[in-house]
Amino acid sequence: NTNELILAIETSCDETSAAVIKDGTTILSNIVSSQIESHKRFGGVVPEIASRHHVEQITVIIEEAMQQANVEFADLSAVAVTEGPGLVGALLIGVNAAKSIAFAHDIPLIGVHHIAGHIYANQLVQPLLFPLMALVVSGGHTELVYMSEDGSFEIIGETRDDAVGEAYDKVARTLGLPYPGGPHIDRLAAEGKETIAFPRAWLEPDSYDFSFSGLKSSVINTLHNLKQRGEEMVIEDIAASFQASVIEVLVKKTKRATEEYGVKQLLLAGGVAANKGLRQALDEEFSTGEVELVIPPFSLCTDNAAMIGAAASVKWRKNQFSSYDLNGNPGLDL
Ligand code: KG4
Ligand code: ZN
Repeated sequence: NTNELILAIETSCDETSAAVIKDGTTILSNIVSSQIESHKRFGGVVPEIASRHHVEQITVIIEEAMQQANVEFADLSAVAVTEGPGLVGALLIGVNAAKSIAFAHDIPLIGVHHIAGHIYANQLVQPLLFPLMALVVSGGHTELVYMSEDGSFEIIGETRDDAVGEAYDKVARTLGLPYPGGPHIDRLAAEGKETIAFPRAWLEPDSYDFSFSGLKSSVINTLHNLKQRGEEMVIEDIAASFQASVIEVLVKKTKRATEEYGVKQLLLAGGVAANKGLRQALDEEFSTGEVELVIPPFSLCTDNAAMIGAAASVKWRKNQFSSYDLNGNPGLDL
């Protein structure tokens, strides 16, 4: 315990968030302001609107996070911020806010990768045990990440087309559900049955990569055919059938990866980690406890600054600081 206090900022997409994290594990505050209502009528995130909201919100959200944590800027060990990937205009708001605070109060600046943040959300739940595997499933990412130690990320498999969350949102849209559609499909799937055998994209036998665009097209075609034949569609069953296909592939590939790499833990990360069907399927698959399954609470699955603070703590301990030329980088590599 070093009394390490990190102010973290996240503005990569449509959530403006600030958090104060103690020793990389304890959340003193985690304020999240969602813009979902503003983007809903466009059926997705509009980058220009996102940037404007971040500008309006950022100062208020940071002040609220500091107040709730009862911390002064002078007490901070560092200020951390998501530097990428994400929407460039959105990232810049957070990066500039963090730089200003670092400069004004003469404290270290730490740039954090958004996906490292999603993975390290798990450190706010439980101590991490290496080597570990992380299944990252969000609106922009679908990756299996092997970590031999803190701060080391090896992507062993990733999507070749759509991210899981993207597939959920696109299918939801064709079903006439509001944005973001993931949670709606999840809810409907729980009330339906798998009546349609949608394809599973296993790819090459030894591949840990994923593909969801074929499945997405198959769902869209099925809906189209039902409509043409004038048949009734049971939306719950379509949701359940789609979700069953997604989950089976995710769980089987993840299981094989944990076995081949001999990991101690499996971490679930990203917005789609909120999916009840996926959480339950992983719980069952890893019920023996041989590999410890860690799943963050819902509030730490979708975008938030607490996870950025947890990831920044690892860099803080290694003195991995950023300079004032830190920039928003929409295509940043993990
Ligand atoms: O991590 P996140 O908040 O933002 C990105 O970095 O992308 O993830 C958002 C994604 C959206 O596609 C949303 O539909 C999906 O996570 N999502 C879900 C659920 N909750 C959020 N997908 C399936 N089931 C859910 N319960
Ligand atoms: Zn995210």
